[in-house]
Amino acid sequence: MRRRLWIGQISGLPHSATGRLVCARGIATMTAAEAQQGSPPADAVRAKKLHGRAFYESIGSPKFVVAPMVDQSEFAWRMLTRSFVPESEQSNLLAYTPMLHARLFSQEDKYRKAHFQAVRPGPSSSSEPWLDGNPSIDRPLVVQFCANDPEALLSAAQHVAPYCDAVDLNLGCPQGIARKGHYGAFLQEDQDLIFRLVNTLHRELPVPVTAKIRILETKEKTLAYAQNVLKAGASILTVHGRRREQKGHITGVADWEMLKFLRDNLPADTVMFANGNILQQGDIEKCLEATGADGVMSAEGNLSDPAIFAKPPPVGEEGREYWRGKDGKGGWRVDAITRRYLDILHKYALGSEPPRRRPLFVPGDDTAWMAEAERTEAESDEPAKKRRKKDGSGPSKREELSPNLAAMQPHLFHLLRHLVSRHTDVRDMLARSRKDGIDGYERVLAAAERKVAEGLLEYERTGGQSFDDELAALADDADGDVPSGESSRGTIRRCRRPWWVAQPIVRPLPGEALAKGAITLSKKARAAKAEGAEAKRDAEGPGKETKENGDAAAEGTKEEIASRDELVAG
Ligand SMILES: Cc1cc2nc3c(=O)[nH]c(=O)nc-3n(C[C@H](O)[C@H](O)[C@H](O)COP(=O)(O)O)c2cc1C
Repeated sequence: MRRRLWIGQISGLPHSATGRLVCARGIATMTAAEAQQGSPPADAVRAKKLHGRAFYESIGSPKFVVAPMVDQSEFAWRMLTRSFVPESEQSNLLAYTPMLHARLFSQEDKYRKAHFQAVRPGPSSSSEPWLDGNPSIDRPLVVQFCANDPEALLSAAQHVAPYCDAVDLNLGCPQGIARKGHYGAFLQEDQDLIFRLVNTLHRELPVPVTAKIRILETKEKTLAYAQNVLKAGASILTVHGRRREQKGHITGVADWEMLKFLRDNLPADTVMFANGNILQQGDIEKCLEATGADGVMSAEGNLSDPAIFAKPPPVGEEGREYWRGKDGKGGWRVDAITRRYLDILHKYALGSEPPRRRPLFVPGDDTAWMAEAERTEAESDEPAKKRRKKDGSGPSKREELSPNLAAMQPHLFHLLRHLVSRHTDVRDMLARSRKDGIDGYERVLAAAERKVAEGLLEYERTGGQSFDDELAALADDADGDVPSGESSRGTIRRCRRPWWVAQPIVRPLPGEALAKGAITLSKKARAAKAEGAEAKRDAEGPGKETKENGDAAAEGTKEEIASRDELVAG
């Protein structure tokens, strides 16, 4: 018997408890075999496809959105993020896949298998839902593509349509690779092509199309751009409140005022997501209020704290995973998050039982395990090459091929950023772990757990003094020659928590990067900056101050953009 897969968004009612969608006008279905051939069955195409707000409501009107992130919003990370949201609120969280390349996806089976694991590998008739878009665990889900050819985009989108709620077009990628490939934000100047790309999916694809754009220099231009995308048929418009030039050291803050302007000037039933400036959970409500958007998308904030969309537990109900300090401020412990993350990888990506773990340590527990753990760490810390040779360990073929395993190291560097900058031995261990696969990351977890236990005990022993000293040092830090309004010091102080708690990485603002000499402006960049400021002044009329954030073309940076920044594709 052929298993039928559900196409969620066709004439759908909201998700049922199992995450499946029930259709109002009968059930529109597609077999995995049909899906793999990329051809939707006739009944699916004929069924009425929901659009705009009706579609948004059919997936549960999500307010929280995991951003598309190249190599970083993969299945395991989405599962981890979802794991912090209560079961009853799952439909409030929508996730985007990493950006996939439409032409490669439409043409290369190998690329598809390496990036989208909707069904188990094996005989082509296998239609068992597996990871990406699995209706009972990975929905609602939007799959994102970059493209510049409507036919290639449609062909790629048809492959994933049976496994997702919508397909998104990336119009925000600002990287050099997008400039060369002519996609992402480099399509901005070709509004006709953008219309054709979105409109082709709107007309031909059995699931809705959505789009993610960046803002332009002026409100009027951005509004016209948004109107074009919506007219072409986008059901949801995500707006990243930064311009194409704002990346790397000159990322700066996102412009929520511009998002509010769009909200006020687009048709009232437009579904809009706001993106940019979300560092902590509390910023989400602020953003919803300031912009009037339907939902808030987070990328970097989510990478630093996958629990960013979850309400903290009430005082007194912290349990072992959440830590609250004497000042009442707290956060999810990084060792707890890492455990959850590794357990998800064991269970789903590797299909094996996660290791049995003792209860996460809290002060007051027996500490005998700590000395034992330290001994084991020392023994297992022999050079990886030697160890692999001795015990034949190393990643299995399955691990090597898994996009979820490949994403682990950057995730852990991000999540453990504050821990590893203090405990450089753990940083070195993490840097070496990739070649050992999941075993290497288990060793990193063991070391992180021991360090966190030590940190917690010290905090208790000193009555919180160990962290108070750190905060005091921050308060003493002078801003140097950084002009007022261009300093990130206040934000750093607001967000700072002890290193065992998940917290954002606050980027220096462009003014600070300039003052520190991390970037210099090239002639071209200086001209671009002056021109941008002038255009903004003209657009905003006399008497309005412009915020200059050193926003110049990337060519002006002195340093090579760090590898993480290379990944910032939207
Ligand atoms: C590691 C990383 C990868 C990203 N990859 C994508 C991507 O594949 N597609 C996309 O539209 N945006 C991508 N972006 C941009 C984010 O989706 C988002 O627009 C941007 O980071 C601003 O949001 P934030 O302030 O919450 O970080 C990426 C960002 C990061 C940090």
